[in-house]
Amino acid sequence: MAATASGRHAWRQLMRDTSRRSVSTNGSNFLRYQQQLYRSPFSRQVSSSSGRVALRSPSSLLRQQQQQQPLGQRLYSSESSQGSGNTTPPPPPPPPKNSRSQVKFWPFVVVIALGSGGYMLLVNNRKEMPPTDKNAQGATPAFSPSEVTVLFVLGGPGAGKGTQCARLVNDYHFKHLSAGDLLRAEQNRPGSQYGQLIKDYIKDGLIVPMEVTVALLENAMRDTITESKGATNKFLIDGFPRKMDQALKFEEIVCPAKLVLFYDCPEAEMERRLLERGKTSGRADDNAESIRKRFRTFVETSMPVVDHYEKENRVVKVDATATPDKVYATTQEKLKNVLGDKL
Ligand code: C5P
Ligand code: MG
Repeated sequence: MAATASGRHAWRQLMRDTSRRSVSTNGSNFLRYQQQLYRSPFSRQVSSSSGRVALRSPSSLLRQQQQQQPLGQRLYSSESSQGSGNTTPPPPPPPPKNSRSQVKFWPFVVVIALGSGGYMLLVNNRKEMPPTDKNAQGATPAFSPSEVTVLFVLGGPGAGKGTQCARLVNDYHFKHLSAGDLLRAEQNRPGSQYGQLIKDYIKDGLIVPMEVTVALLENAMRDTITESKGATNKFLIDGFPRKMDQALKFEEIVCPAKLVLFYDCPEAEMERRLLERGKTSGRADDNAESIRKRFRTFVETSMPVVDHYEKENRVVKVDATATPDKVYATTQEKLKNVLGDKL
């Protein structure tokens, strides 16, 4: 039975600034309310028994509601200038007699001292607490980065990501999850409500809405961990994230990535490889027209993701122009420098 678990991961901020204010305009009072309602664009359905994520309907994905009304200006009273027309401020009231003796300061001193002491105690306790898995958004990802290792593998179409991943799987027991392969499998799954949507996006070299891809990856990771009884916990996530929203959402709700392995290859070389592969791959997007569209998506949408991780010093960049053997030797050397000999 599916239980709704949208609250934990949803961005939600309801009924903001509902303050009432009594104002006077032209002698009549009225109330002004302001409400802001943010709707969650990423509410998930998680099965309580298997923990698998159910995908939302394609139509709801395409019409994500983000209604955000600007706050209107508040109207304030102009009553100070109304009436007599006398703008001279009244004289200040005389100070009360024996005012010094009426104000007692010691209760304030006691309250401040107790408050400061309590705060220091809290700070010291926090120092000794183990770090939590909560991320900057306050959400807890499905998998802890201390138990599960995720390496994102990026590069243009035809850069050789799949080829290099297969070798790393062989030598270091990673589980290889290709976002493109998972999308194609979902597209071909009988009864999938996403089949047509995925097909159209792939043909045009566009990025499928992130909800679909993130959910497919999370489910595949969960299945791998469950089936191996926890023994397989290192993932090469190939061809993902291809867009900033995928990167942020995956790290927020699934698992923060350790690093990005980026295969850098000139477009002419990638085109040559893809056209060669297209002779036998049977892929609907390994043709000259789709390849052009995929290159444009890569430059405009996916490179900003690499730039983002580069700013965070999380990118291991490998020149992918050489033969698969040479590229693999460089990959091993560079990964070992960062992760140690066992990867
Ligand atoms: O990685 P691969 O070349 O197999 O991806 C094929 C297509 O799948 C991409 O061109 C894109 O349409 C889609 N895709 C996506 N998001 C990803 C990975 C692939 O939309 N993260
Ligand atoms: Mg691939």
